[in-house]
Amino acid sequence: MTEHTAINHEDIGTAIARITRSVRKPIVLVGLMGVGKSTVGRRLAGILGRDFVDADDAIEEAAQRKVSEIFEEFGEEYFRAGERRVIARLMDEHSGVIATGGGAFVDDETRALILENAIAVWIDCDIDTLVERTSRRNTRPLLRTGDPKEILSRLYAEREPYYSQAQVRVESVDGPHHDTVRRIIEAIDQCL
Ligand code: S3P
Repeated sequence: MTEHTAINHEDIGTAIARITRSVRKPIVLVGLMGVGKSTVGRRLAGILGRDFVDADDAIEEAAQRKVSEIFEEFGEEYFRAGERRVIARLMDEHSGVIATGGGAFVDDETRALILENAIAVWIDCDIDTLVERTSRRNTRPLLRTGDPKEILSRLYAEREPYYSQAQVRVESVDGPHHDTVRRIIEAIDQCL
């Protein structure tokens, strides 16, 4: 895994041009709820001139239900099976940026598929920032079952061994998302 180290001396435009030229695989964003995968992904895709797709949105479209409704009506296992199918399809159809739900990369099959066919970028973030960010919306079924800080801390401990298998790791600090976008561009460029 490549850790991000800033390359201030280099023009970010050069890095963008290099990525645009040589990265053919989709860039798949993974990481816990609240790290900013969708916002960062949309901006990253815009900068790279690629398409953007959010896996949770695609699942909702396929199921004609909200993620929270799928969890309530059918349970998490059913959601994971749908998530696996949808991400496999998105990887086939899209060569741009794909934001995945926080649990997707924990699934062995989904993770293997992403690692083989894409550049996986783990957006890492400290728990307090995640608690603050996720408190703004009550749409996440896994955070409704108890204290969000405890749940996020537990999920972090459980999932870190999987997230750390991503080819690239960047840290999302408590600040504007465009900082994270720049870090991703620099980190991917360093992998080329
Ligand atoms: C989940 C994260 C959510 C969504 C579902 C389950 C998880 O996506 O897929 O609620 O297991 O961490 P976000 O990470 O986009 O919030």
